[in-house]
Amino acid sequence: MTKVQQSPQDILRYAQSAEGKRDPHLAYDALREAAPIWRDEDTGFIYVSSYAACDQILRSRSFGAAGLLQQEPRFDRSPSLQFLADTLSNIDPPHHTRLRSGIQKSFSVPVLKRSEALLAEVVAERVEALRDRTDFDVLGDYALTIPNTVICELLGVPRDDHVRFAGWLADQFRLLGPVPPSDELLDEVDVSTASLLDYMGALIEERRRDPRADIISELIAAQRDAEEPMSVREMTVTTSVLLAGGSDTTKTAIVIGTRLLLENPDQLADYLADPAAARPAFEEVLRLGGSVVLGNLRRAVEDVDLQGHRIAAGEIVVPVIAAANVDPAKFPDPLWFNIRRSPNPHIAFGGGVHVCVGNMMARMVGPVAISALVAAYPDMRMLDDGRDVDTGLPALRGMNSLRVTKKAG
Ligand code: HEM
Repeated sequence: MTKVQQSPQDILRYAQSAEGKRDPHLAYDALREAAPIWRDEDTGFIYVSSYAACDQILRSRSFGAAGLLQQEPRFDRSPSLQFLADTLSNIDPPHHTRLRSGIQKSFSVPVLKRSEALLAEVVAERVEALRDRTDFDVLGDYALTIPNTVICELLGVPRDDHVRFAGWLADQFRLLGPVPPSDELLDEVDVSTASLLDYMGALIEERRRDPRADIISELIAAQRDAEEPMSVREMTVTTSVLLAGGSDTTKTAIVIGTRLLLENPDQLADYLADPAAARPAFEEVLRLGGSVVLGNLRRAVEDVDLQGHRIAAGEIVVPVIAAANVDPAKFPDPLWFNIRRSPNPHIAFGGGVHVCVGNMMARMVGPVAISALVAAYPDMRMLDDGRDVDTGLPALRGMNSLRVTKKAG
């Protein structure tokens, strides 16, 4: 996008067009420059794209996430909207605190440690499968099922069900974002939500009878001592959403991370020379290529002073995470992919009480998956431009493929 003078409305349209979505961080960068806090007259939503204002929204109790989906005219008839309304992202404290602390405990460091071995195994297997290939797709042939496999194993979903389970959860994402879903789409997702809830309910009952070393079993055990135990519905929704929240986002981060390294040979050389670079590099991948472009909608629960702008109680704000993460007021030379950037206080995982519950897992899976691939095939070259595609969702980035070759150029 050329930086000509455009109205915020034009920039938003561009950012949400197929072309703008090919690099959403760049497109929303222009919105922040034009108007860091701006009301879209078509929807009434206030797009907030400076780092300082986004950070304030994420951390402030003056903005709440609950009650928005209930305003959807189709809410009472839609199991999917009701499901989403019950997820962590769409509830506020103290309800949120109770469910979140339950899941956080069972999604703990010891559980993650157990999954490290599994991750190493899965990644090694995927890398080996590419050994005899000259060309391959980093998404479809490599990253696609890595996060999904790890999360399903952590949850205790049997291997034969991984693909089915992932499909139901991917469907939930199709409803997210400031644009309401069509009736057709909602009907489709309602069917898969019902299957998901039945499946997860049955799995929870099974683990109650026969506990294993997985998140669901730990969550059930923790309820025995809880002051206010989680209901089966609460457990079902809260565990299901882990996969929904973690699979696509982490897969996309692996692919975008690989792309950023291949596009920046000097950074790749530095990365390959020093295994300790993998973790800070992944933070930089998240900052410049984080999968969540727009944070969840929030409503002001009272009048708020947002970095000098008055937001009235009841108004709805959209944190534009992609723009905040390239705000020059916070990040020097923000469009430079610098794997040594320090400090790197990006908000790719959000912030405050709703900060991504899976961030530790993503931070474990991402660097391991990227490092294993680029270390095994350091001479990979991109065969397509690897840009994002239109996911159909304003809130999320996504790619169809990242085709590469190992053949010398
Ligand atoms: C690179 C990968 C990931 C990115 C970029 C990401 C990003 C985010 C962001 C930005 C939020 C907060 C949105 C807001 O408050 O507006 C969030 C919340 C959440 N994420 Fe992630 N996420 C990732 C991986 C994961 C994983 C691996 C899981 C689970 C295994 C997960 C589960 C969740 C859940 C359940 C929430 C809601 C938390 C709450 O509201 O309390 N995410 N994520």
